[in-house]
Amino acid sequence: MNKNDAKKLIQKLRDDINYHNYQYYIENNPVISDYEYDMLLKKLEALETQYPDLITSDSPTQRIGGEPLKGFKTVEHKIPMLSLDNAYSYDELREFDERIKKNITDVQYICEPKIDGASIALIYENGVFIRGATRGDGIKGDDITSNLRTIRSIPLRLQGSDLQNAEVRGEVYFPISSFKKFNKEQEKKGEQVFANPRNAAAGSLRQLDPRIVASRPLDTFLYYISYSEKDFKSQEKALETLRTAGFRVNPLIKKASDIEEAISYCKTLETKRETLDYEIDGVVLKVNSFAQQRELGSTIKHPRWAIAFKFTAKQATTRLKDIVIQVGRTGTLTPVAILQPVQVGGVTVSRATLHNFDELKRKDIRIGDMVLVERSGDVIPQVVKSISEKRTGEEKARAIPRKCPVCESDVIRTLDEVAVRCPNKQCPARLKWRIEYFASRDAMDIDHLGGQTIDKLIEKGLVDTIADLYSLTEKELLTLEGFKEKSVRNLLDSIKKSKQQGLARLIYGLGIRHVGKYASQLLAVQYHSIDELAKKTAEELTQIHGLGDKTAEAIATFFATEENIELINKLKDIGIRTKETKKEGRLTGKKFVFTGTLPSMSRPDASDLVMKNGGMVASAIGKDIDYVIVGADPGSKYEKAKKLGLTILDENEFKKVVGES
Ligand code: IVH
Repeated sequence: MNKNDAKKLIQKLRDDINYHNYQYYIENNPVISDYEYDMLLKKLEALETQYPDLITSDSPTQRIGGEPLKGFKTVEHKIPMLSLDNAYSYDELREFDERIKKNITDVQYICEPKIDGASIALIYENGVFIRGATRGDGIKGDDITSNLRTIRSIPLRLQGSDLQNAEVRGEVYFPISSFKKFNKEQEKKGEQVFANPRNAAAGSLRQLDPRIVASRPLDTFLYYISYSEKDFKSQEKALETLRTAGFRVNPLIKKASDIEEAISYCKTLETKRETLDYEIDGVVLKVNSFAQQRELGSTIKHPRWAIAFKFTAKQATTRLKDIVIQVGRTGTLTPVAILQPVQVGGVTVSRATLHNFDELKRKDIRIGDMVLVERSGDVIPQVVKSISEKRTGEEKARAIPRKCPVCESDVIRTLDEVAVRCPNKQCPARLKWRIEYFASRDAMDIDHLGGQTIDKLIEKGLVDTIADLYSLTEKELLTLEGFKEKSVRNLLDSIKKSKQQGLARLIYGLGIRHVGKYASQLLAVQYHSIDELAKKTAEELTQIHGLGDKTAEAIATFFATEENIELINKLKDIGIRTKETKKEGRLTGKKFVFTGTLPSMSRPDASDLVMKNGGMVASAIGKDIDYVIVGADPGSKYEKAKKLGLTILDENEFKKVVGES
């Protein structure tokens, strides 16, 4: 190929990749597989290697830049980043509205979720991303361009011509679901854990090595154009412009025609708070018209045209009664605070995580302290700090245990001394986790097998592996405290029933790292038997649409471990279904997505119906989805489904399709 052709092809590949990137990260609607996407990128990389002088900074191959930085440059914001005035009650919002109406009439508000992340300012020149900074003190911030470039929802080149030379602002956040997984992984590795998703986002942006940032699932919402060549009439138009330029704009933003409508938005959003995968700590109300905004102006600290309504804080103080040690699935010892029960954001909290012994020491938290407790998102409550002013001198520090509190093995500590772990692979604590996971609702769904029962079974030496569950006898169970004939029969029945749960649930229940519900279904549909799956190499596994490298690697490792093969063989001997006759149900090959609350069915029951009939349940909307089942209060998936013209059904229609009506 001559250079001219290469140049054309490079441009075409970049456009294609940018388009697919947008579909994936902004629209949440991938139209090609991860594999196909990777192939496009590889092709582009190859061409750019051949013609290095054709590489430009906005090429999708250039997200992760070279070497780690020594430190961040300080940069001055062209326009100071003001913070917002706060309101803590609806009456304060009404007062805000009164103040505005002194100067102007006929005001509409744009109501936006207040994202609890790290704020950023991005500068584009001729449509190309050239600089990104943290808020800092509002006047000066850190230049974190190379970190921001790794975030896929930040376009390196803008679409269309409305924004060319501009500064835009928004928030970087760490999705709550990923945050939980991330912290667990960090804990396992003995690395830094973060107190909440906001700290995780801010902490990630402060990494000096962009490769580390690239490995974290950071995401963004943009909400403000601080300058541009073009004038916009309103916040509504500005948001629309951001969206068409390729930024992610929050889908829950709404216009309110007066303050009462804005207040009811606040109320509704507060009830939705727990269902979102990102943290919000309130609602930002903005006067919609930019002419009106200019008229209102700003004080030195805040704009007069906006206000942040803060949700009730999810913090409280209480007494820390004890610090107990919990042993996790991989043997990590974690200190856990036992609290005087206290209401935090409407939930009674009596336990909170203290993460690790390092943190315990750093925060100097002692038994008997009064402590500040926080609940963020639906993340486990945590102890923020001790209130040392309230100390009496009776408080006691908790030393790092030398022995595992469960099996009494000598503990080991990693070099950096963050993680303390029990080295005993047979430790009952680990076994307990494994059994709980195996029996959980989404796995083998064994009713009547809760944590306390598992404890008792292990204590009595009745189970050493998952497989032992299936040889439990009535006589043995009757020796457990609190077990009567009826409860024994119930438990034995549900254990027996679980044998028929099928391959997807079994795979999920094995607790292979990175293998969630959807991956388990994919694997079951693809390979039809656990033996077939066990034979696959990581490479072969990556060929399956939707499976990432890490997952494939983890599966291969799992089946390369002798203990695990032994377990599988035992499960087969017991008669657990490890094969899936190619399900020729009425839904074979059909993919479903659920959104919203169904009137009479729970999500797991509805998913089960689909799977029993040979269908699959996916979590994201894409062109390949056959049916979208919509209940009350559907999320953005509904909008996407409509846009794509997918088949949308309500519960009744769904029942007809699965043959249940
Ligand atoms: S508007 C001049 N909108 O809240 C307008 N801010 O104290 C500046 N934030 O520093 C901000 N979500 O980090 C705006 N939808 C939203 C927001 C938002 C979160 C943060 C932002 C800002 C702070 C205000």
